[in-house]
Amino acid sequence: MPSKKILLSTSGLVALLLSLIVIFFVNSPNDPPKQLAEGTGENVDYDQTFRPQFHYTPAENWMNDPNGMVYYEGEYHLFYQYNPKGDQFGNMSWGHAVSEDLVHWEELDVAMTPDEHGMIFSGSIIADEENKSGLFPDEEGGLVAFYTSAGDVQDQRIAYSTDKGRTWTKYEGNPVVPNPGIKDFRDPKVIWHEESEKYIMLLAAGNKIMFYGSRNLIDWDYLSEFGEVGAQGGVWETPELFELPVDGKEDDTRWVLQVDMNPGSIAGGSGGQYFLGDFNGTDFIRQEKTDDINWTDFGKDFYAAQAFNGKEDRLIWMAWMSNWQYAGDVPTEPWRGAMSIPREVTLVTDEKGEVQLAQQPAEELEALRGDVLYEAENKTISGPIQLEDFSSSTYEIVAEFDVGTAGEFGFRVRRSEDLKEETIVGYDTKNDLIFTDRMNSGKTSFHEGFPGVYRGPSPSKDGTVTLRIFVDRSSVELFANGDQQVMTNRIFPFQEADGLEVYSKNGDVTLKSMKIYEMNSIWNEE
Ligand code: FRU
Repeated sequence: MPSKKILLSTSGLVALLLSLIVIFFVNSPNDPPKQLAEGTGENVDYDQTFRPQFHYTPAENWMNDPNGMVYYEGEYHLFYQYNPKGDQFGNMSWGHAVSEDLVHWEELDVAMTPDEHGMIFSGSIIADEENKSGLFPDEEGGLVAFYTSAGDVQDQRIAYSTDKGRTWTKYEGNPVVPNPGIKDFRDPKVIWHEESEKYIMLLAAGNKIMFYGSRNLIDWDYLSEFGEVGAQGGVWETPELFELPVDGKEDDTRWVLQVDMNPGSIAGGSGGQYFLGDFNGTDFIRQEKTDDINWTDFGKDFYAAQAFNGKEDRLIWMAWMSNWQYAGDVPTEPWRGAMSIPREVTLVTDEKGEVQLAQQPAEELEALRGDVLYEAENKTISGPIQLEDFSSSTYEIVAEFDVGTAGEFGFRVRRSEDLKEETIVGYDTKNDLIFTDRMNSGKTSFHEGFPGVYRGPSPSKDGTVTLRIFVDRSSVELFANGDQQVMTNRIFPFQEADGLEVYSKNGDVTLKSMKIYEMNSIWNEE
């Protein structure tokens, strides 16, 4: 087993102290927003303390929601809310990155910037491969982007591209959906609805979702609205709609309407919920046994999830890994904002016979697995076990436990040598809950809403609990019990906090199997 432990010499200690001082001053939360140079940061390296190594981040500047996600001619396109001029929200534009394998991303030039009508807010892209819009010179078609123009009012506009999303022309007849007198009227998600043979646009409008239909992507008719249900703690944003088979059975499908809201989410601040039902081309009809809220993710940092259009075989989505509560204060520079790992979304029947969403890390991520850092089988855990010689800040844990007598068990990740820093990711057997405790996870004081313990119900199955955990330099994503419950949280530990402990509390637990893989960097390949 390779060990990367750093032995601290006296000069090492001095260097460490100096770097701590530098980190402290550079990242003081009271600093005015930095205005960084425009561009795609070719000279920025990707090795900063908090720079995610296998999650997408722009080289520099501010990023929030994923936008315009589409798989087209062999490329995954990830556009995103981006401020090309600084690391705070403002000048909202569409940044752009592409990937051929869903894990390695190349940042391209900014796709669209604000104009006299306003900023370019969130939206989506359709590959108009039959030129139904008539916007393209020939039958080959191209990409059509739908975005909200956010100026004095919010309305929906389109732009089109004939060069695989590299350059965009705004449509002369904009807006395609004018503002009907609603203040928050944004985030067009457009999908093709096979059954009614038309395109459907979903818009977030205050605390409801409005549906529009079109045959040519340009002329839109109002269809219906859905709302005044579910979590209502904040304004609804960035809707998403798709149909999936239940337990893989193609003849039993449900439509999923995912809606984000800010604030009012389960963990505080912004987050997502979903509704299950039918969509008949006009209305979304909720079909659920209870009125309980279905939370998309029980952590604090998974927002505005969007799925790739143009990917027929699987439903893959990604979300912004932050929370509006403190997104502007997170201690990273010269960039702010990160995307979650790509996740495959499915529908499964749970223990109670109810259909629910599952999110599985996209299988492409396995390509990033490096050395197996640790392996165990049928090991009884009684109390804390610090994994000897373990030192990593980027890894994946795949573990299966037999819930024995323990009241609680799990992992203490990103642990510092003095044990003052750690993030606890575990399972509470009394209450059947997964949790993440980031109270002492490193830098937490930049915002009072940041430190906390987050929990979500996650029933064990026949006494077995599975935990799959992705740890990166500034995040922890937990997929529990067949990926049916998910929890995403940012953390900001010092680089040297790279230890790992597996533990049980108030009794024993059996670690039936565990493998820990080093995750290779998508930026700095060895
Ligand atoms: C969601 C959101 C959207 C809006 C965008 C602006 O995070 O508030 O509703 O279009 O961000 O950047």
